[in-house]
Amino acid sequence: MAKENILLIGSGGRESALAWKMRQSDLVDQLYIMPGNGSTANYGENVDGNPNDHEAVRRFIGLKDISMVVVGPEEPLVKGLADSLTEMGISVIGPRRKGAQLEGSKDFAKAFMMRHNIPTAAYKSFTKDTLKEGLDFLASLKAPYVLKADGLAAGKGVLIIDNLKEAQEQLKKMLDGMFGDASARVVIEEYLTGIEMSAFVLTDGKDYKILPEAKDYKRIGEGDTGLNTGGMGAVSPVPFADKEFLRKVEEKVIKPTIQGLQDDEIDYRGFIFFGLMNDGGEPKVIEYNVRLGDPETEVILPRIETDLVELFQATVAGRLSECNIKLSDKTCCTVMMVSGGYPGHYEKGKVITGRENVKGSIVFDAGTKREADGKVVTSGGRVLAVSTLAESKDAALAKSYEAIKGINFEGAYYRRDIGKDLDKYYKK
Ligand code: AMP
Ligand code: GLY
Repeated sequence: MAKENILLIGSGGRESALAWKMRQSDLVDQLYIMPGNGSTANYGENVDGNPNDHEAVRRFIGLKDISMVVVGPEEPLVKGLADSLTEMGISVIGPRRKGAQLEGSKDFAKAFMMRHNIPTAAYKSFTKDTLKEGLDFLASLKAPYVLKADGLAAGKGVLIIDNLKEAQEQLKKMLDGMFGDASARVVIEEYLTGIEMSAFVLTDGKDYKILPEAKDYKRIGEGDTGLNTGGMGAVSPVPFADKEFLRKVEEKVIKPTIQGLQDDEIDYRGFIFFGLMNDGGEPKVIEYNVRLGDPETEVILPRIETDLVELFQATVAGRLSECNIKLSDKTCCTVMMVSGGYPGHYEKGKVITGRENVKGSIVFDAGTKREADGKVVTSGGRVLAVSTLAESKDAALAKSYEAIKGINFEGAYYRRDIGKDLDKYYKK
């Protein structure tokens, strides 16, 4: 296949890892990242611009003779960026608006799973007009109560509440615009128990390649305590996802999802992220995302040995079935260094030092920017993901933690217990 000029959309750790991996491909001529961050600039050229301004994206594409766009985050997809680019004849990794509803509307995703017999929590949806039914429905359930804003709410739209009265209050507030339009409709669902993990595929809508699975660490505090974050670390592979469980994920979740897309006439070319609960060995889908996860990407991509751009080209051409994907059986771990105070208030602009001494680990910038004088400073809550691929989980984590010791910025915090909970699952 010919070399391409590629535009990658996004600015987080996920995009740093995508840029790092794509840069290794011989199929890439120029790589641009909009808007990018401090490290994507090492793999391509950062371009100013807001990915939700589709007109600006289109103009840039015309200017630079770009033939492929890889969309990192969900929001541009839910807003139809892939529709607009596909019309221009551009290859896009990421679904069009209709497919992006799998993440853009929880109600759509639940109905999709019901229609195609994909295991998930029982649910009902309510709007302001059906508030009374919603309150009664809550009263008919057992605690804890799970309330989800239908639309995108920047990862904050899910409430899990122990007390019935409180859940009913929150339902009213959500329907009254607590998350703006995103909570004009609210999904109430059965509470699932078990242990969570993430599975991923790349699909051309007919065939799929299963990517490495991962477990992420969402809470800010050690021992999974404190507030939810975007993710504080990740491990891949996941030791409790044994062959039998992964077989069930493929048979009961992945295959019916891809078949469901075809049955519903949704032409889907891109990633699907399955947020799963492992409930006594049975997978249930908590949510779909139409993109890769962050920080999961920072442990998935180092385990993919195949040229990612080759897989992307096959995806847009609808010939994924002709490709093989080779995965490393080593373990990859990432530990996220975050700004002091995150996920609450934190300061930006702190100078990052010491990363040049890191050996054997990869530092993926998540929230940084390069100043005019060349210095890289913090510009977000999650700042750096330090990933290591090694023979074992413990070896990978030891290296990531050693690397972190040498990296400094004022207020830096990280969890020291990433992966510890998994010890009991490894065979001695
Ligand atoms: P979501 O945005 O749908 O992934 O939900 C955010 C988080 O809430 C998930 O990662 C789970 O930890 C939790 N969660 C969501 N739905 C459920 C459920 N039905 N039962 C238990 N926990 C859930
Ligand atoms: N790490 C979870 C996510 O990307 O949504």
